Amino acid sequence: MSISTARPAISAMGLRKTFGKQVVLDGIDLTVAEGTAFALLGPNGAGKTTTVHILSTLITADGGEALVAGHDLMRNPAGVRTAIGVTGQFSALDDLLTGEEHLRMMADLNHLGKAEGRRRTADLLERFELTAEGTPDELRRRIPGGHVRLVFADAADLELAARVLGDAARDDAALALRVPSDGSVTALRALLNRLDREAVAGETLTVHTPDLDDVFFARTGHRDKTEDKVTR
Ligand SMILES: Nc1ncnc2c1ncn2[C@@H]1O[C@H](COP(=O)(O)OP(=O)(O)OP(=O)(O)O)[C@@H](O)[C@H]1O
Ligand SMILES: [Mg+2]
Repeated sequence: MSISTARPAISAMGLRKTFGKQVVLDGIDLTVAEGTAFALLGPNGAGKTTTVHILSTLITADGGEALVAGHDLMRNPAGVRTAIGVTGQFSALDDLLTGEEHLRMMADLNHLGKAEGRRRTADLLERFELTAEGTPDELRRRIPGGHVRLVFADAADLELAARVLGDAARDDAALALRVPSDGSVTALRALLNRLDREAVAGETLTVHTPDLDDVFFARTGHRDKTEDKVTR
């Protein structure tokens, strides 16, 4: 790790938090360098969310101190708020907006102005190699690994379907076929039409799309740039 004289983005010392009788944070020290991605890992209930809530000024610590972007958390929470952005684990908009639309919305909420908002959005997409674009569903459909699984009533139907759908992988024991597909309505309709023409009826059809981890690896070719991991 390189030695840096820059002030850390976050430096916390001795953070304490108690809920009722339960000591959740028992003196947490944490330093995060500027310009890095940092992941705080730990089992359920370890206090990760509590730590984020404290560092983002949503709740106050019972003890300890912290500087966030140079602002004292206890004495100047408003200063901290102007310097940070927080996004939740789940957002109602995650599945509706592309990464770019999401960033543009955040730029608007921060009153960055049109030109500056566009510049910051482009800069961030570039830095995180997300110039990858589309809603989560669109991205999932675009990478390999998506398929449709068809299960048939008997071996005769399976046999016939396998012949009709040439490129399918067969699982005789399960009377199932695995057909590569992007899972789109158009692809499904074409698939069912082919079976219909030969009068083969499938019993069940399930669509399997790659998850967003698969998308990230496929698009960027590497894991995220997490530099430090802390486990409590
Ligand atoms: N407002 C609250 N009142 C009482 N107890 C709370 C409150 N918030 C959190 N806790 C308790 O504090 C502990 C730590 O919770 P926290 O949500 O910080 O854990 P976490 O590390 O984020 O867990 P997870 O991995 O499940 O998200 C848990 O036992 C939780 O029940
Ligand atoms: Mg949590």
